[in-house]
Amino acid sequence: MMPRLFQGIRAAAGRRRAMPGGRLSRLAAGGLLGALLGAALLAPLPPGALAADEHSHETPRPPHAGLSFQRMFGSFDRAAAQRGLQVYREVCSNCHSLRLLSYRNLRQIGLSDAEVRAVAAAVQVQDGPNDEGAMFERPGRPSDRFRSPFPNEQAARAANNGALPPDLSLIVKAREDGANYVHALLTGYADPPAGVTLQQGMNYNTFFPGHQIAMAPPLTAAGQVQFPNMPDASVDQMARDVTTFLAWAAEPELEARRAMGVRIVIFLCILAGLAYAVKRKVWADAH
Ligand code: HEC
Repeated sequence: MMPRLFQGIRAAAGRRRAMPGGRLSRLAAGGLLGALLGAALLAPLPPGALAADEHSHETPRPPHAGLSFQRMFGSFDRAAAQRGLQVYREVCSNCHSLRLLSYRNLRQIGLSDAEVRAVAAAVQVQDGPNDEGAMFERPGRPSDRFRSPFPNEQAARAANNGALPPDLSLIVKAREDGANYVHALLTGYADPPAGVTLQQGMNYNTFFPGHQIAMAPPLTAAGQVQFPNMPDASVDQMARDVTTFLAWAAEPELEARRAMGVRIVIFLCILAGLAYAVKRKVWADAH
């Protein structure tokens, strides 16, 4: 009985003696890790790091498009988004689907209920089966998803020289520097430089990785899409507007997110002031 008790006491003492050393070494390790992390964060990037990546595929960075929502607290320019919807409907929707969007979502960019119904009713969607078991076509409703131009991927490829026009719902988020890239892509068609031969059915584009893109220039002439108050809109204007529309489609919650951010920062400022006042009050006698 006694020896076992002594053993226990000796073991506990040993543990206690071992503690400060353990804590010290843990502290030292933590400090070292922190210092390393700090150094990694603070060290400026080697100047060649980004440039080297750019050169590896020789695609220039898209220029800044300067769109309404790209400013720090910017929102989507409703008029631009509506014009962009028109560009999508008249041009892009011949090849690209927009599967994640429903017609009723268009209320968010300022369309009235009647306008939403009209946009939806302009397309025929497949529905069914009916009582006879057959599928049938009917005009679209606000609750329908945007109609896809092709029934399946194979049909889309067959109509586009083997290339698949990607769904545009999330394209602005799916590409690096998305909004600037889409705008640059749409305005970046050019004649191939001397010495570059294009494969059959391909087009030269300055901003597409590899420069050979299967999409023929979709926007080619000023006034190609007739906006109500802008009869001679330039290609750049149409590209900017459709980019605004696609950016909204990819992130419709952007405005709410930004508004929430501002509210949280204001709240945290008030909380910090309050905490400081309480601290002064509580410690007033101790000083
Ligand atoms: C005639 C059919 C056609 C039309 C019209 C068209 N596209 Fe395309 N698009 C394609 C095809 C095909 C590809 C795939 C290109 C490739 O992978 O080489 C593509 C690719 C794209 C891409 C992806 C590029 C990438 O980085 O992969 C974007 C963005 C795009 N189109 C936007 C648009 C917009 C915006 C419009 C309307 C202004 C439009 N397209 C009109 C056929 C079309």
